[in-house]
Amino acid sequence: MATKLKGRDLLCLSDFSREEILEIISFGDKLKMDAMAGKQERYLDGKSVAMIFQKASTRTRVSFEVAAFELGAHALYLNSNDMQLRRGETIADTAHVLSRYVAGIVARVFAHQDLIDLAANSDAPVINALSDLSHPCQILGDLMTIREKKGTLKGLRLAYVGDGNNVANSLLLGCAHVGISIAVASPRGFEPKDEIVKTATEFAKRSGSTVLITNDPLVSVQDVDAVYTDVWASMGQEAEHDERMKVMRPFSLTADLMHHARKDAIVLHCLPAHRGEEITDEVMDGPQSVVFDQAENRLHIQKAILALLLA
Ligand code: CP
Ligand code: NVA
Repeated sequence: MATKLKGRDLLCLSDFSREEILEIISFGDKLKMDAMAGKQERYLDGKSVAMIFQKASTRTRVSFEVAAFELGAHALYLNSNDMQLRRGETIADTAHVLSRYVAGIVARVFAHQDLIDLAANSDAPVINALSDLSHPCQILGDLMTIREKKGTLKGLRLAYVGDGNNVANSLLLGCAHVGISIAVASPRGFEPKDEIVKTATEFAKRSGSTVLITNDPLVSVQDVDAVYTDVWASMGQEAEHDERMKVMRPFSLTADLMHHARKDAIVLHCLPAHRGEEITDEVMDGPQSVVFDQAENRLHIQKAILALLLA
């Protein structure tokens, strides 16, 4: 495949142009249609992909593993605890070695700096499978889902309600890039990272959309086309769980809050959900929820990412 994305790392959506983001999403659409028609081109025939996980995963691990397999590649799941990393081998040395064996490295890490160090020392592309800063592959799949459900991206309005975490950071960048106006409502002290908000605001100016950060969930959801939420305590924040529950409670995505969005608004959640905390069963299982289609699209978008970057 001849594309200018070949050989690129995917660490953060701010490293990509609007056109590149749309190219990945559109390729995801094509691969989904191919899969539904029973045609799957083996773009990565005979290649191998290393997948380092420092944290738990269901969707990201399985969708990358299945995506690699269906594209003709072999995916190696590497729990970082079983690697020499645990015994002190450096990230840089690990990257040098792995990139002699594999066509690409997918990594889920605690510190985003680990991804930067991996990429700086690997000849093979490095793909961010979630870090403390961002979750770009998630948001590429989510944009694919939003366009599938709404028929467009530019001009839509989306609210993110809850913790201003890695998912919120990537959502800000992704939405602002493609022209979705985004409002993020988080408790004071839990807003998305300033530097991300600043970059997203610049992207929004270029795409003709807006970025709003507020502490009022009601303000964020007024007449929006989509409402997104995520857990209140991310992986690695377990010790803060009880404190966070108290502060975040008013940001729960309930049917009452949904009444302020448009009637045809969709509900998104990257999952896993903590039902009864950031989202009620009623909303998660209700007619506006697209969370399982959203999870399915992780598979199609991972295929697009792997094929475009590694083939
Ligand atoms: N949404 C997501 O990344 O899920 P996992 O943690 O199960 O991979
Ligand atoms: N914010 C969550 C997302 C999980 C997919 C976390 O980092 O745990």
